[in-house]
Amino acid sequence: LMASLLLKNGRVVTADSDSVCDILIEGETIVSIGRKLAADGAEVIDCTGKIIVPGGIDPHVHLDMPFMGTFSSDTHETGTRAALHGGTTTVIDFVLQKQGHSLREALTEWQGRATGTAVGDYSFHMAVTDFNPGTKEEIKDMVAEGITSFKTFMAYKGALMIDDAQMVGLMQEVKKHGALVTAHATNGDMIDTLIAQHRAQGKLTPLYHYLSQPEVTESEASGRFADIANYTGVNAYIVHLTCEGALNQVRRATERNQRVFVETCIQYLLLDASLYEDEANGAKYVMSPPLREKKDQETLWAGINQGLVQVVGTDHCPFMLAQKLVGKDDFSKIPNGHPAIEHRMELLFSEGVSKGRISLQKFVAVTSTNPARIFGMFPRKGTISIGADADLVVFDPEKKHTISAATHHMNVDYSAYEGWELTGKIDTVLLRGQVAVDGGQTKVGRGYGKFIRRGVTAF
Ligand code: URP
Ligand code: ZN
Ligand code: ZN
Ligand code: ZN
Repeated sequence: LMASLLLKNGRVVTADSDSVCDILIEGETIVSIGRKLAADGAEVIDCTGKIIVPGGIDPHVHLDMPFMGTFSSDTHETGTRAALHGGTTTVIDFVLQKQGHSLREALTEWQGRATGTAVGDYSFHMAVTDFNPGTKEEIKDMVAEGITSFKTFMAYKGALMIDDAQMVGLMQEVKKHGALVTAHATNGDMIDTLIAQHRAQGKLTPLYHYLSQPEVTESEASGRFADIANYTGVNAYIVHLTCEGALNQVRRATERNQRVFVETCIQYLLLDASLYEDEANGAKYVMSPPLREKKDQETLWAGINQGLVQVVGTDHCPFMLAQKLVGKDDFSKIPNGHPAIEHRMELLFSEGVSKGRISLQKFVAVTSTNPARIFGMFPRKGTISIGADADLVVFDPEKKHTISAATHHMNVDYSAYEGWELTGKIDTVLLRGQVAVDGGQTKVGRGYGKFIRRGVTAF
C-alpha cells in the first residue's frame, strides 16, 4: 500500500470551484476529493480554517544563468527551495542558446545544472537567440523532449536578440509543431540608442536605466510581435508585460480575433518607477523592462480582471548587492533582474485577494491554472482534481508576517519588499504527495525536483 495523506476540512479553491472538503492522496497523486472521507490509516492534516490552492507555477525564472558578465545568484537548488517556501511547486527556467551554437548544447548545459539538484519541479523554455537552418531542424527535437515553448529576445543585441527575419522563420517552424513562441518584447535598437545617448551625456544613475526604456519601446515591440504572430498563426505569449501601451497592443490584436497570451510579474503590479529616484538603492530595481507608473499598475490589475493578462510570474533573476555594485558608476553595467520567486504568491494573495483587487479564483488562475494550461502541464499540474499531482498549498488567510532578507530562502542579500507586512501566510506545501515545506521548515532535499515534460498549449 502506498503512503497516504488526508487533508481534512480545508476550503479547497481552484480556478472554477470553491468548497470545504477533504483531499485524499496516495503516493504522488490525488485519489479522492469529497466530504467526510475516511482516513483508513492515512496520516491526517487538519486544514480547518485554511485555504488550499493548487501548487503555484512560476513560468518565468532565471536560475544560475550566465547574464551580463555574471551568473544569477540562485541555483536550481536554492531557487526551487525558495520557490517551495512560497508555495510555488513548479518553475519554468530559461535555457539560453549561445549565438553560433546549437540548442542541444545549451539544453545539455542547463540539464547539467538542474538534474539532481532542483528541490522543486521544473521545466525549461528554450530561448532561441540564433535562428538559422541548423536551429530550425532542432525545434522538433525540443518539442519531442517536452520543451514546447520558444523564447525570443527582441532586445539585448549582440547577446540574445534576434531580428524580425529570424522571428518570422522561428514562428513558422514552431507553428508546424503546435508549440508556443514567447517574447521579451522591447525594441532593442531604440533602447541601445537611448542608453548610448545618456552615457554620452554623463547621465549614469539608475534613473537613466528607466529613462532608456520608455513605454514606447515596449508597446512598439509588443505590437510588432503580435503582428508577426498573427501573420504566421503561431501561439504567442508576451513575457513580463509592464505597461498600458503594451497591453493596448494586445487589446488591438483581440479586435482582429487574435489571442496573444500575456504575463505580467508581481513587481509591476506592486512597485513603481519612483524607486529609481533613490540613487543609493535604485540599482536593486534595475530590471528590464523597468518599473512603470501608477497608471500602468492600474492597467495591469484591470487587465487581470478583464482576462487580457492570464499569468503573474516573477522573472526571478537575482543578483547579490556586490554584483549590482558593478554598475555603481554606470547604470548600463548593472546586471538586470529582480528577486521574487519566494514571495509571488503571498504578495499577490495579500495585495490582490486580501485587499479586494482580485478574487481568490483569479488568484489561482493567474498563479497556477493558466500557466499550466498555456505551457502544456494541465491537468497534471495547475488544479486540484483526481489524478492530478498532489501539489498543494495550505494558506492561513489571516496570519500576518513580514518579508525580510534576514529570513527569506533566496540566495540574495536583499529583498525588494523588505519590511512589507503581508496578510496571509503559507503553512504547508505539498509537492507530489510529499510534505515539502511545513511551518517554515524544508522537508524535501536536493534532487527531489523532477523535470516536467510538457505538451502543447491547451487553453
Ligand atoms: O531584468 C531582467 N528581466 N533580467 C532577466 C532577463 C530578462 O530580460 O528577462
Ligand atoms: Zn557549439
Ligand atoms: Zn526579459
Ligand atoms: Zn526574464
